[in-house]
Amino acid sequence: MSREELVAMTRSLVEHGAADTMEYADEIVRVPAASYTDPELYEREKRNIFRRLPLMVAPSCELPEPGDYKAMDICGVPLLLTRQRDGSVAAFLNMCTHRGNPVVSGTGNATRFMCGYHGWTFKNDGDLVGVASPKDFGAVDKAALCLKRFPSFESAGLIWATLDLDSKLPIENYLSGYDALLDAFGFKDWTLFSQRTLDGPNWKTAYDGYLDFYHLPVLHKETFGADFFNRANYFFWGPHQRLSSPSKFVQKTGSDEQLDLTQMSDEDLPPDALTQGVWTIFPHISIASFYGGGQRGAMISQLFPGETVGTSTTTQYYVMENQPETDEQVKSAHEQFDFLEVVVRDEDYATGKRQHEALQSGMMKEVLFGKNERGGQVFHQWVDKLTNASDEELLEIFSAEQKQAAE
Ligand code: FES
Ligand SMILES: [Fe+2]
Repeated sequence: MSREELVAMTRSLVEHGAADTMEYADEIVRVPAASYTDPELYEREKRNIFRRLPLMVAPSCELPEPGDYKAMDICGVPLLLTRQRDGSVAAFLNMCTHRGNPVVSGTGNATRFMCGYHGWTFKNDGDLVGVASPKDFGAVDKAALCLKRFPSFESAGLIWATLDLDSKLPIENYLSGYDALLDAFGFKDWTLFSQRTLDGPNWKTAYDGYLDFYHLPVLHKETFGADFFNRANYFFWGPHQRLSSPSKFVQKTGSDEQLDLTQMSDEDLPPDALTQGVWTIFPHISIASFYGGGQRGAMISQLFPGETVGTSTTTQYYVMENQPETDEQVKSAHEQFDFLEVVVRDEDYATGKRQHEALQSGMMKEVLFGKNERGGQVFHQWVDKLTNASDEELLEIFSAEQKQAAE
């Protein structure tokens, strides 16, 4: 089913490429400049988007083995992910139920966590198993003092969690069928090669850059080249979107050869042709395929708002189909990853920071998204809609999206 959908998208891209056309949005859209700089709106976005919607918190290959864990802080919420004995993932509020100290930090492998403050101990399934000096402390109902669990979901080799202990939003509904398409990458069998974290500008300023190809041959002329394509067609599943250039060619994996897709049957379309372009997961993920180190690879960029309205942090996960084996391959995978860091840090985010500072002057009232920048238009519409939706409306919005996806 999802392969059919991938093939249909590829055929549409090929047709547009052969005809030298692209799909346009209906009109040019104006977005208030203050939506990037208003600190109050920024706080509402953190609360209503990041602390209320499912977030892709880790690729599955970051926690491959039972006992693997990762602690992280997202918009002030301490989160602990653990891989259980049965292979499933659990997401907890990383706060000791005694007095709130995080029970662990960083990453590692453990079956138990002992809180570093007074020594209460929790299993990695959240159960409280030991109260230090229990007689002195007094009797407590241990079952009522387990780590608090967030809703979580694992699909397509990616892990989602919702940082709202009372959330009633099914994560499957939120994904609106998109995870079945993401499954085509095969991430559940891939491995994590390397990761790093970068500072960026306002989260929406940063994210805009993942949603258009318009800037590629200009901003990235030194790295990607000045004759790089600048057109994208967009495909949507709820608020999640893929952008891909209309073209009848795709580069053959591991070579410079261009495959002419008009000459290939649907069955022969390679995975690279089916998954090319940038796949975003609302509100903060971008996935793009690359080749380096003798393997198919992808960079998964995970963006979070920072301390202030003008800051964000991005973790880049470089995942690969297999770990590179020879020294040469390892070197070439590192080179590929380093290249992508330079592109994002020195070109996209350096520009985003300058753009944000200029917008902070308040001298400009609106910014523009052209008919060729439909991705940015749709992204900002979803941010508005979801920031302003009540909890009940949120459930309705995504139950309708899920229904539509199932049709
Ligand atoms: S806060 Fe964890 S044992 Fe006291
Ligand atoms: Fe860019």
